[in-house]
Amino acid sequence: MRELGLYIHIPFCIKKCNYCDFYSLCHSSVKEQEYISALCKHIKRDAHKYKDCEFNTVFIGGGTPSVLSVDGFNTLAKTVNNHLNLTQGGEFTLEANPGTLTREKLLSYRRAGVNRLSIGLQSTNGEELSTLGRIHTVDEFSRGYLLARECGFDNISIDVMYGLPNQKIGDFTKTLDQVCDFNPEHISAYCLKIEENTPFYKQRERLSLPSEDEQYEMYLLLCNTLGKRGYSQYEISNFAKKGYRSKHNMKYWQSKEYVGFGPSAHSFFDGVRYFYPRDINSYIVDPVAEIEDESRENSAKIDQMDEYVMLKLRLKDGISEGEFFGRFGSELLAEYPSINKYLKSGHMELRNGSYSFTPSGFFVSNYILTDILHF
Ligand SMILES: C[S@@+](CC[C@H](N)C(=O)[O-])C[C@H]1O[C@@H](n2cnc3c(N)ncnc32)[C@H](O)[C@@H]1O
Ligand code: SF4
Repeated sequence: MRELGLYIHIPFCIKKCNYCDFYSLCHSSVKEQEYISALCKHIKRDAHKYKDCEFNTVFIGGGTPSVLSVDGFNTLAKTVNNHLNLTQGGEFTLEANPGTLTREKLLSYRRAGVNRLSIGLQSTNGEELSTLGRIHTVDEFSRGYLLARECGFDNISIDVMYGLPNQKIGDFTKTLDQVCDFNPEHISAYCLKIEENTPFYKQRERLSLPSEDEQYEMYLLLCNTLGKRGYSQYEISNFAKKGYRSKHNMKYWQSKEYVGFGPSAHSFFDGVRYFYPRDINSYIVDPVAEIEDESRENSAKIDQMDEYVMLKLRLKDGISEGEFFGRFGSELLAEYPSINKYLKSGHMELRNGSYSFTPSGFFVSNYILTDILHF
């Protein structure tokens, strides 16, 4: 059966963090009810398109899905379980903010089939949490995390951030050590990006951010520390214990198919990439998707190659020469000769027939990609 990933966007948070540009609004019970009812209607309306497919990964992301009331979550979960073919025992992730977790909510997730939690901690330093505008303390995270374990979650990912205002290498060392002490199965670690339309962007001249060299030092610290603590890096920002890579996120980087519901949710289905605009009100009235680009079949071969190379190079395993040849009928280095330059400089390497970034290359991968790709 054709396998798909399912993404559902929950565009609510208790309060926006100072750095975040993900599509979400402040939560209210009235808006939640309107939204969940529109979302369920949309899922039921489109379910027939996927009758010959099986969703083997589900990801409820946001925003903050754990801000939903138990009733709101249950209504959504029932619709998903009753109208879409979910693989029994498939990966089912829900994103959570530690300030919103309760036993009742966690148990309702378990009952609905959620078997993986991705919890945003960001830092174990109280001052950093308050600079970021987070709604929780480290103790609250710790309580939520232990509660999740008690409720049976044996696959938990923790999000952390580095390159934060006033952050020193020693601060990040402490965060990493403490995060590893919690012993999660998976860790995602992102370098702070100053996004437009955020409070941090408005204050950018006044923020005391680590220099690029310090950020690089933090990145190397991250890769080394997590490696020593048993987490292997499989993507620029993702680290997992053996057997715990995120199957859903791997679909994005391996150009596999996924279907998204909700404003700002993206899909790649039947060769077409599309998304729902970042507007909850128009979504509630009538979800209308916008096509992101030409269908894969019609788009130029060169675009398909660029997209393949860009996504695959995010992964530690990189691009296999043989797989590239099998897919496009030409040699990777003939199509992308600038790769040679980065092999010489040590930013890329060739291992077992696959080209990939080294840690120093990962850190500047955006610059390198603009150089090697055709667009
Ligand atoms: C949708 S949020 C995760 C779940 C939940 N809303 C929370 O914050 O606890 C996804 C993650 O993206 C990361 N993130 C968001 N904005 C970022 C930025 N501007 N720079 C770096 N990482 C960012 C954070 O680590 C965050 O946990
Ligand atoms: S980081 Fe998470 S909690 Fe903070 S605004 Fe973004 S989605 Fe909401």
